[in-house]
Amino acid sequence: MQIRKAVLPVAGLGTRFLPATKAQPKEMLPVVDKPLVQYAVEEAAASGIPMVVFVTGRGKQAIENHFDVSAELEQELAGRGKENLRREMRSISGMLRFAYVRQQIARGLGDAILTAHGLVEDEPFAVLLPDDVIMSPIPCVKQMLTIYERYGHSVIAIQRVPKKSVSSYGIIRGRPVPDFDCPGRLFRIEDMIEKPAPSQAPSNLAVIGRYILNPGIWKALTNVVPGAGGEIQLTDGLRRLLAKEPIYGYVFEGERYDAGDKLGFLKATVEIALNRPDLGKAFRRYLQSLDL
Ligand code: G1P
Repeated sequence: MQIRKAVLPVAGLGTRFLPATKAQPKEMLPVVDKPLVQYAVEEAAASGIPMVVFVTGRGKQAIENHFDVSAELEQELAGRGKENLRREMRSISGMLRFAYVRQQIARGLGDAILTAHGLVEDEPFAVLLPDDVIMSPIPCVKQMLTIYERYGHSVIAIQRVPKKSVSSYGIIRGRPVPDFDCPGRLFRIEDMIEKPAPSQAPSNLAVIGRYILNPGIWKALTNVVPGAGGEIQLTDGLRRLLAKEPIYGYVFEGERYDAGDKLGFLKATVEIALNRPDLGKAFRRYLQSLDL
């Protein structure tokens, strides 16, 4: 079945970036010259998904405005002869269809996803957490859709992380699945646990913020009780789903930046700038000139 909708949870308070996020959403912080959230939206569009469902909250109107047409701005740019820039601004709103639903109280990622049920309905869908910026020649979600089409079961993006970092992630226990097209990258998930202490972690295979989920997740998420951090965790819903149907973990190809963390955000900014055809050369020269 075709994946037609991508859910992007953007209701978080962004406390790790205060004071920058006191009056603007974390998701609107620019990485080079694009707001963080636009990278995830572009990944969904490049993966062939036609609709994004944002789970928003109070104070997040800037995101809606960003993905809407700005008639005044376009008129101004057209008047100044900046036709290319005008077209670029229009393409942001024309990329996909957008829908919004509010999570009234920030109860956790599992609750945020459940809030989107009414808009997604009972069909498989993708989830992209905008904090995880993933750069790869084939978009991460597109790679996962190939696996989904082959197996028909939910697929979660995973990555090996240092053992000391496991307590920042959902961690899986998985059995390798031989797959000719992606050798060593596919796992059948046997168990998963949200943010375990290193001594409790079943592996160092961490869940990264990209998921393709079958509609069974709706029932599995209902009545999940608060878990790690006192929040309703998506990982706990997935664990319940696991009791009913298979879930696969896929080690994606690409570079992932944790832009929800200050150092990760800086790394994303530096590396994405270095890879930009219009900035890379001058920026590299500048970095090389620094006496570090
Ligand atoms: C969320 C998930 C976690 C996952 C992580 C990936 O945690 O709950 O399982 O490993 O995203 O970025 P968060 O980073 O929102 O605390």
